Amino acid sequence: MRVAVIGTGYVGLTTAVSLAMNGHQVIGIDLVASKVEKLRQGISPIYEPGLEEALKKVLSDGALAFYTDLTEAKDAEIFFICVGTPEAADGTADLTYVLGAVSDMEKVHSFSPQERIVVIKSTVPVGTGEKVAGMLAGCQGVSVASNPEFLREGSALLDALEPSRIVIGVDNPQAAARMEELYNGVKAPRVITTRANAELIKYASNAFLATRISFMNELARLSTALGTDIVTISRGMGLDSRIGPQFLRAGVGYGGSCFPKDTIALLQLAAEHNIHLSILDKVREVNTTQPGWFLEQLCLQLPDLKGKQIAVLGLTFKPDTDDIREAPSLKLIEALLQKGASVKAFDPIGAPGVSKQFPQITYTQSAAEACEGAYAALLVTEWEQCVQLDWNQVHQSMVQPLLVDGRNAWPNQEVKEAGFHYIGVGRS
Ligand SMILES: NC(=O)c1ccc[n+]([C@@H]2O[C@H](COP(=O)([O-])OP(=O)(O)OC[C@H]3O[C@@H](n4cnc5c(N)ncnc54)[C@H](O)[C@@H]3O)[C@@H](O)[C@H]2O)c1
Repeated sequence: MRVAVIGTGYVGLTTAVSLAMNGHQVIGIDLVASKVEKLRQGISPIYEPGLEEALKKVLSDGALAFYTDLTEAKDAEIFFICVGTPEAADGTADLTYVLGAVSDMEKVHSFSPQERIVVIKSTVPVGTGEKVAGMLAGCQGVSVASNPEFLREGSALLDALEPSRIVIGVDNPQAAARMEELYNGVKAPRVITTRANAELIKYASNAFLATRISFMNELARLSTALGTDIVTISRGMGLDSRIGPQFLRAGVGYGGSCFPKDTIALLQLAAEHNIHLSILDKVREVNTTQPGWFLEQLCLQLPDLKGKQIAVLGLTFKPDTDDIREAPSLKLIEALLQKGASVKAFDPIGAPGVSKQFPQITYTQSAAEACEGAYAALLVTEWEQCVQLDWNQVHQSMVQPLLVDGRNAWPNQEVKEAGFHYIGVGRS
């Protein structure tokens, strides 16, 4: 099928590449000319394992092309909207980019009318599909579908090629059939439903995953007080098939471009309908306070941080991505600087992004280098390069052998044997 993908960020680029790999003829559109230029050369503007190689392949096969102007996609039968839906000042989802893309598409349709589907892949509040359908009511032959995305940064391409499920919200059987045709050959359970249900499935999924994380983070605080081991507790819980092992990991709090904004957007949507989602409210509260709780654990050992060098290992919101949006490292660095510490940070990919926000700290070429001369090392993102260290070497190079593990990823017994004082999140 002929497909246009509007917005070539994490979701749009992955969607465009995966659809091209699955045999469709795809055009990727982005407003940012420099991004389009890079993409045309087969350079991925984002770090995502396997994506650049796949991009080069589909470009050379002629299955994917990039433009800044949507009129280049005038023959497309399917228009995917994959633009950002950031948090507005009041916490609701800002739909400016989505509505901008819809009006771009409307113009294209006016001079090149045909049967087509506008598919909203961006995460949007319940009712957005309905609103967009209203905007496009005058466009003969156009249907509006909701097809939320569930990919995870760090394994985005694989997730797009082998999704856990495909959720399609439509208001007519013809559009459902066309969407089924688009995903023909992709093995995954289908949920064909209304647009509103599809929109809420996305928010509910993210809110539930965030809930699991905050539940474990709060439990980790209790585990610290009790002297129990949250990693063992999490394993013992996760083996229950009713619970499952995913998203039971305590840490410094969730970040990224989705959970923080999607949880507040869902709370706001509920409030508009006079419903208070009290559990979700607490989920956010625990997450907001978790970096502070983590730093308190450091300060119990090192009460005065003034003039002390602290190593911050890992900056991106999770490993295997360059995404630093809402990363806990940002809050931690800010708090450390406020307490007068000097920070040396390491991240294999994320340092250039963070250095724009914190030019005053030092960025090193390795985790070991960041630890040299440090009074404490904090593990914030569990990149392999931050986890697999030569502990004897690190021990010798630090002023004080204090490890504060924000991801429970360091080998606690091994580091203790190497002479470190180890503090984890809910484990010692
Ligand atoms: N990043 C994720 O892991 C993820 C996962 C699932 C869902 N989502 C959702 O998908 C949506 C996109 O997220 P993202 O992380 O890919 O965003 P992003 O910021 O990485 O990419 C958005 C892109 O859209 C472009 N854009 C904006 N308006 C445009 C227009 N009118 N025409 C052409 N291009 C335009 C921007 O230049 C940018 O390149 C959001 O709603 C997000 O919540 C994201």
